Amino acid sequence: MSTEISEPVQLTRVTDERELLELERRYCSWGDTVHYLDPPKFFERCEGNYLYDREGVPYLDLQMWYSAASFGYANPRLGEALKAQAEKLPQLACQYLHAEKVELAALIGRLNESKFGLAGRVHFNVGGAQAIEDSLKIVRNAKGKNLVFAFQGGYHGRTLGASAITSSYRYRRRFGHFSDRAHFVPFPYCFRCPYGKKKEDCGLYCVKEFERNFDTEYNSFWDPKAGESEFAAFYVEAIQGTGGYVVPPEGYFKALKRVLDERNILMVDDEIQMGFYRAGKFWAIENFEVEPDIIVFGKALTNGLNPLSGVWAREELIAPEVFPPGSTHSTFSSNTLGTAVALEAVRMMEEENYEELTRRKGAYFLERIRDLQRRFPKVIGDTDGMGMALRMEICQSDGFTPDRELTDRIFAEGMRGDLDARGRRMGLVLDVGGYYKNVFTLAPCFDMTEEEIDLSVELLEQLIRRCAPDRV
Ligand SMILES: Cc1ncc(COP(=O)(O)O)c(C=O)c1O
Repeated sequence: MSTEISEPVQLTRVTDERELLELERRYCSWGDTVHYLDPPKFFERCEGNYLYDREGVPYLDLQMWYSAASFGYANPRLGEALKAQAEKLPQLACQYLHAEKVELAALIGRLNESKFGLAGRVHFNVGGAQAIEDSLKIVRNAKGKNLVFAFQGGYHGRTLGASAITSSYRYRRRFGHFSDRAHFVPFPYCFRCPYGKKKEDCGLYCVKEFERNFDTEYNSFWDPKAGESEFAAFYVEAIQGTGGYVVPPEGYFKALKRVLDERNILMVDDEIQMGFYRAGKFWAIENFEVEPDIIVFGKALTNGLNPLSGVWAREELIAPEVFPPGSTHSTFSSNTLGTAVALEAVRMMEEENYEELTRRKGAYFLERIRDLQRRFPKVIGDTDGMGMALRMEICQSDGFTPDRELTDRIFAEGMRGDLDARGRRMGLVLDVGGYYKNVFTLAPCFDMTEEEIDLSVELLEQLIRRCAPDRV
């Protein structure tokens, strides 16, 4: 493509969508994920469950920005908190203190004291991957080791450090050698058990296989003379996000944590996507009754408003004597707008009974998509969920072979914005995840009513009928 400047520099605002698309093609990097959809999509407004395109067509959003906007787009209470802070203290170098940062850290610290009986501290940053980077520093600093375990199907972000512990080689392939790439362990994805077992009678075979690594020094993970593992930590998502909202079987994490404790390996719990009630509890890991050593969070902490992320670590890993001033830093890390919104969001989470709400609505939604699966067994192979994190696996007629092509078609049709929502034109926003890119990972807004859940399922049915007419 020529890079010559052929047009005079334009100073007036461009409003025509075709012209904007041309400018995007020429001037925006394509290195992000915008071009996963062709042509890419513009939106103009958002509110509650809905995004609105430039013609005002509403799109019911079943993914809420990968769970970053769980509490509804343009949430009025959080918007007010943002405005109030913008008027009071809109900016401040992070080397000085402001009250909201301290209150937020104390709130999260106290919550974790009450949940896990563990003292700890919080370190803020602005994005999920950056917080993962900070957690890697905390791990390396505490253990003096670089190597970590992570899950196959796991996703922790796209900075270099986060890519090294994210399972997809696709994210590393063009960026040189990752010497500290994680050792990737199979996740208990029981619908497609990597060991060919059935969860009803496998006796958690996968944990036994993991434990076997430490049986003898010749399995390469353990020095029995020193009583030390070469690995410092295990990075987990309690429920895999990008991996396809895979819910592990009962007892899995307890059994895994026992092995890690015996081998003195830290458990780092990535709650960036599943935290803040997405999976029915404040932290998704609470569903599995284990105490992590480090928790990393982001996304819904500010409901997707002014970005903020963070790491909570047990006191002995992050106390000032071991993690002194200057250990890590970013100009925008504990920014005043992000911390003010997050403080209001966490207060809101404490005031409302989101545990009851997400469990009740999630159970209703899951029942509705299970009904869809019963009616369309040649399209939907698996449905599952926890809280309001739900999965729908699109398969070929045998109900098992992944059907990526049909998944992509349904996704693209939803974005056309021409479904019939009881007489009203509407689109449906879905997101595709999973090891075979054939899973709709549903993360609906917590404010969604039962009627809107019914409408969502009607729209999903329309898409199935439109995209797979020969299998309905
Ligand atoms: C589980 C998990 N960890 C880390 C990240 C990276 O977060 P960010 O995109 O904010 O860098 C994501 C993003 O989707 C995620 O889902």
